[in-house]
Amino acid sequence: MRKYITDFTIVGKQVYNESYFSLTLQHPDRLPEIAAGQFVEVEVPDNKQVMLRRPISIHDVDIDNNTLTILVQVVGKGTRTLSKLSEGQKLNLVYPLGHGFSLEGTHTLLVGGGAGIAPLLHLSKCLSAKGIRPTILLGGRTAALIPVQKEFEPYGTIGFATEDGSLGEKGLVTQHSLFSADYDHIYTCGPTPMMKAVARYALEKGIECEVSLENMMACGIGACLCCVVDSDEGHKCVCKEGPVFNAKKLTNWIKQ
Ligand SMILES: Cc1cc2nc3c(=O)[nH]c(=O)nc-3n(C[C@H](O)[C@H](O)[C@H](O)COP(=O)(O)OP(=O)(O)OC[C@H]3O[C@@H](n4cnc5c(N)ncnc54)[C@H](O)[C@@H]3O)c2cc1C
Ligand code: FES
Repeated sequence: MRKYITDFTIVGKQVYNESYFSLTLQHPDRLPEIAAGQFVEVEVPDNKQVMLRRPISIHDVDIDNNTLTILVQVVGKGTRTLSKLSEGQKLNLVYPLGHGFSLEGTHTLLVGGGAGIAPLLHLSKCLSAKGIRPTILLGGRTAALIPVQKEFEPYGTIGFATEDGSLGEKGLVTQHSLFSADYDHIYTCGPTPMMKAVARYALEKGIECEVSLENMMACGIGACLCCVVDSDEGHKCVCKEGPVFNAKKLTNWIKQ
C-alpha cells in the first residue's frame, strides 16, 4: 500500500480531560483507503527536543470530508506539544502505516484499554459496514481514563470496566460479564498485560485473536529495526508487519 508524507490542517480539537485529547485533521484531497488498525507517524512541530515522529493510531476516518481523527494520551514531551496545537495549524503525517485488523469473525469482541481504545472506533465502523455488530469492552483505571464512550454506541454493544468502579463493572476487562460470552474472534489493543491476558484466554478457548502492539518506534517503515517483537516466526517489525498480529504467532511474547 502506498505511503504519503503530507501536511494536514487541524480542523477540530476536543479536550476530554488533562490526559486525553483528539485532533481532527483535514487534507485538501481525497484520502486513500485506510484499514482499521493502521497508524500515522506524526511530526511534532516547534519542539527541537522531539526529533522522531510519534506513532499514533487512526481513531476515525471521514472519507466524505477528507478527515482523519487521532486520539492522544499525554505521556511525554511529544504528546504534550501536540496537546497545545490549535485549529488552523498544520501537522505533517506519514500515513497510512502498518498492517491492520482482518475484519474476520461474526461474533466479535473488541477489548480496549487506555490509549489502545483509539483504533477500535474505526474498527467498529469497518465491522459495522460489513454487517457485523461487535461487543465492545473498554477498560481503564477510572472513568476519566476511558475518554471516548458514546462514540461507540451506534456500532455495537458496549461494556465498561473500571478498577475503581466509577464506570460500568468494577474490575479488569477480563473480569467483565461480557468478556466470557461466546465469541469467534477477539480484537484487542491496550496495555501489554491486558493484551497478554486477553490473548492467553483466546488461545486457551480456541478463539481467533488479533492484538495490536504499541512497541516503541522510530522510522515507522521497517528500516531501523527498533520496534521488533519476538514472534513465533522470528523477529518481526511491529511498524511494518504489525502493529496487528494474530495471537497464534505471538505465543513466545504472550509467555514473556
Ligand atoms: C502503532 C502505535 C500506535 C499508537 N497509537 C496511539 C494512540 O492512538 N494514542 C496514543 O495516545 N498513543 C499511541 N501510541 C503510543 C504513542 O506513540 C506514545 O505514547 C508516544 O510516542 C509518546 O511520545 P512522547 O514524546 O509524548 O513521550 P516520550 O517523552 O517519548 O516518552 C514518555 C513516556 O512514554 C513512554 N512511551 C513512549 N512511547 C511509547 C509507546 N510506543 N508505547 C508505550 N509507551 C511509550 C516512554 O517510555 C516514557 O515513559 C501508539 C504507539 C504505537 C507504536
Ligand atoms: S520503527 Fe523502524 S523498523 Fe519499526
